[in-house]
Amino acid sequence: ILVEKGGYKHHMLREINEVPEALLRTLSSVQKRYLNLAGRLVTGADNIYIIANGTSLHAGMIASYYFSELAGISPIVTSAAEFPLYYLENVGPGTLVIAISQSGETGDVLSSLYEAKLRGATILGITNYVGSRLARLSNLYLPIAAGPEIAVPATKTFTSTLQVLYLVALSSSRQKGKIEESEQKARLEAIKKLAQSLDERLAFIDSEATKAAEKISLCRSGYVVSRGLTYPLALEGALKLKEASYFHAEGVEAGEFKHGPFVLVEQGFATIFIMPVEKVSAEATFPSIEMARQTGATVVVIGSENNQKLLELSQDGVTTIRAVETERHLAPISLAVPLQLLAYRLGEKLNRPIDTPRHLVKAVTQ
Ligand code: AGP
Repeated sequence: ILVEKGGYKHHMLREINEVPEALLRTLSSVQKRYLNLAGRLVTGADNIYIIANGTSLHAGMIASYYFSELAGISPIVTSAAEFPLYYLENVGPGTLVIAISQSGETGDVLSSLYEAKLRGATILGITNYVGSRLARLSNLYLPIAAGPEIAVPATKTFTSTLQVLYLVALSSSRQKGKIEESEQKARLEAIKKLAQSLDERLAFIDSEATKAAEKISLCRSGYVVSRGLTYPLALEGALKLKEASYFHAEGVEAGEFKHGPFVLVEQGFATIFIMPVEKVSAEATFPSIEMARQTGATVVVIGSENNQKLLELSQDGVTTIRAVETERHLAPISLAVPLQLLAYRLGEKLNRPIDTPRHLVKAVTQ
């Protein structure tokens, strides 16, 4: 497929700018009857595994919070590289495997599926390519419909994958009678609103991310720290920084920060906090932010635009990036964008081959 950069310097930047339209396309592409069917597969399964790699795995980790909170179901989330080696014992005819792969061609995902199918499991595939092997191996697949993604660092496919998983969790929740149809509809409206606000605010978020990237470019290494629903996003942010800018970063669960990771924090070290979406979790993270500031480390805090603490920190001279305010379960989608832009702008500043990082390919088929 020939995809032009459309006036952008890199595919990655174009693709981040396409996040809002991709969200809307995903919403109109995932058909209601297939979502109902997916919800039935989830609620009817004896046990559920979510398998994927890299960015798709991080989406799967966030989805485990969706399923647990909205449908009272706790799937096991694992790397597709681990699944066929360590998880087959309990895979059988009552098992549902939710396989996520934007390319639909990732080798570890496909070999996991062969093993799972041999044992009689049902496969729900989630992919951006309807003609992919993943789609063909699935009993039911749902399209991510983000449009072709060229840059190796995945961006718009991540946010749209999260959206598909959220829709499946909502459908499961509805089928378990945990939410009313009106609530399901309201939550779909919130996605549209988020896409619209993101579209309006992307340039502003980019300008804040660019300033933050300037500061981080002076550091040798860093952490991305968060908890709960946005903890997997910390892992994703660290992965994006590595791929797009060759900047060494590690995702840290905020509660673990003081149990070891803090030892490295000092001047010349970047500590990027993603403000947790729950008030209690956010408050529990404030002391870590202060601890990092006291060391003279470079501190960046990413949070929702109306977050009071974020405003206070910014007035106090801390570098902040303000993401679009949205409902709690959609926050990982909203907060992914500043992290993606941060990684992109840092890669640009450090003159990295952003779309084609060394040693990596778009689909790891072996
Ligand atoms: C994402 O930025 C990476 N390029 C990589 O981790 C990727 O997500 C992983 O290889 C899985 O790819 P898939 O979604 O096509 O299966």
